[in-house]
Amino acid sequence: MEQLGMLNGIQQSDHFWKRADGLIPCGTQCLSKGPTQFVYGYAPKYLVKGDGCLVTDADDNKFIDYGMGLGAVSIGYNDPVVNEAIIAQLKDAITLTLMHPLEVEVSELVREVIPCAESVRFGKNGSDVTTAAIRLARAYTGKDIVLCCGYHGWHDWYVITTERTSGIPPIMEELTKKFTYNDIDSLKALMETYKGRVAAVIMEPVGITMPQAGFLADVRDITHENGALLIFDEVLTGFRLSLHGAQGHFGVTPDLATFGKAVANGMPLSMLVGRKEIMAALEHVFFSFTFGGEMLSLAAAKATIQQMKARNTIGHVNEMGKLLKESGNALISKHGLADRIQIKGPDAKTLFVYSDSSEANLVKSFLQQEMIRRGILFTSYNYISYAHKQDHIQYTLDALDDCLGELSEARRQDNIKARIEGIPVAPVFRMA
Ligand SMILES: Cc1ncc(COP(=O)(O)O)c(C=O)c1O
Repeated sequence: MEQLGMLNGIQQSDHFWKRADGLIPCGTQCLSKGPTQFVYGYAPKYLVKGDGCLVTDADDNKFIDYGMGLGAVSIGYNDPVVNEAIIAQLKDAITLTLMHPLEVEVSELVREVIPCAESVRFGKNGSDVTTAAIRLARAYTGKDIVLCCGYHGWHDWYVITTERTSGIPPIMEELTKKFTYNDIDSLKALMETYKGRVAAVIMEPVGITMPQAGFLADVRDITHENGALLIFDEVLTGFRLSLHGAQGHFGVTPDLATFGKAVANGMPLSMLVGRKEIMAALEHVFFSFTFGGEMLSLAAAKATIQQMKARNTIGHVNEMGKLLKESGNALISKHGLADRIQIKGPDAKTLFVYSDSSEANLVKSFLQQEMIRRGILFTSYNYISYAHKQDHIQYTLDALDDCLGELSEARRQDNIKARIEGIPVAPVFRMA
């Protein structure tokens, strides 16, 4: 393995950050990529290159990446097959004035693998298609209330349920309500309160905790009994948990589903799919935009899905995730930290969870800083790609062992805060 870690400092990162000051509000295009999510003053801020599962920052420091473009890069950075498909398409055209056959070809591929995908439409971001799904559900049912569970993007209908509602008319609050994962009574209670008014239940089929036996099927049944549509938001689970989505994995087929991230190995593509009869209502629902049908992303999606099928890349992702989760949890126990940290979630998208305590954020920041020092670009989420091989995982586990040892020592000496070489990570904007 080449030399990883913070060998060259962060001067170049800081140089760009200074130039962004006053020019780019928040400093970033995506809050989850911004410097508040890392130890500010220690961690790198800008990456310039990715290859396989390795990334290089603006100062030429190299890391094994577990962020993988926030879960978008599913096969690996700079993958030769996906690159070739993009380059071949680039030579023909990026976006044209009429439709392109790739729209049909990729739709057919998706229909083959996703249970509810009788019909397919494309978007760019996950938020495009979750919002289209809601508009479609309202049009189809003639109702207006949305019940949601999970994170669904940046548009008004969802963000009104979070703590960051600035700029959204308060009246929107009346239309979206949240229920609790694995708590079927919380859904039933909302259905009772809004009887006859619910257009859709939209949910991440699995987040941090696995669904209790029968939970997803119960959600489907209650949703249908109340005349609403069930939408699985598979932006994170799709083309990651299984080639057939969480819906295939758990055997519960929704009416509509949304996909994004992993489907095009980092190119911006999302999809709204669903039952033909419902999707047909898109004939009179407005969902149309200039870059719909942009072809580099479709070419990338075609090559990505074909590779997923031919090489069982998702099986590999799950296997490596399981190794990281199980061995990582064993190390956490070995260091007596199981009451503070746990690695949870499905194997394909595991998450470091820090127990709710006053020191949780410090523990998270310290661990992240020390992993970065050792050459692992570490966020709480672990998005493993096909490019993460056993030796990358083993390197990560060895580093984790080291860092957990230091963390135990810091807790014994009660000086975690003093050992953090910058401003600790700020809570993420992400509602459970
Ligand atoms: C489950 C889920 N839905 C929707 C979205 C929104 O996707 P995007 O950020 O591409 O708009 C995300 C993004 O993280 C997500 O995790």
